[in-house]
Amino acid sequence: MDKSSLEAKRILLIIGGGIAAYKCLELIRRLRERGAGVRAIMTGAAREFVTPLSVSSLTGEKVFTDLFDLTDEAEMGHIELSRDADLLVVAPATADLMARMAGGLANDLATTALLATDKPVLIAPAMNVRMWEHAATQRNITTLKRDGISFVGPNEGDMACGEFGPGRMAEPMEIVAAVEAHFGEAAFAAGQPLKGLKALVTSGPTHEPIDPVRYIANRSSGKQGHAIAAALAALGAETVLVAGPSTTPDPAGVSVHHVETANEMLAACEAALPADIAICAAAVADWRVEASADQKMKKNGEDGLHLKLKQNPDILATLSSLKGKKRPRLVVGFAAETEKVIAHATDKLKRKGCDWIVANDVSPATGIMGGDDNLVHIISAQGAEDWPRASKREVAGRLAHRIADHFKKGKSAT
Ligand code: CTP
Repeated sequence: MDKSSLEAKRILLIIGGGIAAYKCLELIRRLRERGAGVRAIMTGAAREFVTPLSVSSLTGEKVFTDLFDLTDEAEMGHIELSRDADLLVVAPATADLMARMAGGLANDLATTALLATDKPVLIAPAMNVRMWEHAATQRNITTLKRDGISFVGPNEGDMACGEFGPGRMAEPMEIVAAVEAHFGEAAFAAGQPLKGLKALVTSGPTHEPIDPVRYIANRSSGKQGHAIAAALAALGAETVLVAGPSTTPDPAGVSVHHVETANEMLAACEAALPADIAICAAAVADWRVEASADQKMKKNGEDGLHLKLKQNPDILATLSSLKGKKRPRLVVGFAAETEKVIAHATDKLKRKGCDWIVANDVSPATGIMGGDDNLVHIISAQGAEDWPRASKREVAGRLAHRIADHFKKGKSAT
């Protein structure tokens, strides 16, 4: 055990009202023995399961419980309470607490602190398996993940209510490991390992016009590519995102060029060169209409319509085939495959001439298509790396991390 892994870190622990609340006593001890300072807020329901006295004895601090406690407000307002922490941990995060977080409610001190904070939040859900699987909870999970909340657990197993399935709160040491991983990542990002490098990312679909009101498109959301641009920028890369039409908001700290068609996307990429890193995450339409109409096409009484399609330029292959200093040092493509994922992606790596392929398993059995998660393998000349199923944001963070390691190794080799 690293006794000082959390030295001087300030954690605001929000204890929700579930039977797993008793595990928080152990969690506080484990966090404190690693050097963290822990302050606790308890919801009204939490106080039915563990006493503020127990929590306060272990944190060595006053426990905060009431939004309208004037003494508390005079000593430390709820805004200050949440901003004073480096990380907020919610454990157990009950179905009710998660619903209130997802809805942006602030009807007690716990939810007010969560709404008022500008600090990262890690939650450890705990609830009955049917509550976990309920459509409402699943919807709230999606919202919370989109809002950037990190999750640890829940685990699968026997539950206090006698049922079996996902819903058990992660064990205290698993929560400690997630807290340590969070600070490890934060320290890594603070080191700005990609500073001085320029990254170019493509994202989203392209729209290929048929006439002024119709176009050929695909279902790409742009979520993965946008998240990658954000993750590279967070590690210090000067990042250009060439984005096809998508509803995903522009990521902060990134220079974004909006385009419609594959030809425009290629031109914007070429204009952004030179770059050290190019990541082609866009779902570029394979074909465009050879001669799109200038005016809205009218039905002409015939049964059908024949459109002549022309193949679009392959942006990934074009960037990969550039010569000399114009070629980005690392070119990464994506491959969404439904079968023989590794074999097809390895073939694509060779065909397109890129350095890595992020192979995305979208077979129906994974339930990935159109969702917020991704199940990927990283293919390079060295072979395939299997990554666990994770949110698109987590995949982006991990890819940026992997790229930083790649450039660090390259630097130390020279
Ligand atoms: N890509 C690109 N330009 C294109 C088509 C694809 O840059 N005109 C890139 C994508 O951004 C992705 C990779 O190529 O990084 C793979 O895309 P995919 O559509 O799977 O490749 P295809 O060549 O269309 O292969 P398939 O035969 O599987 O359709």
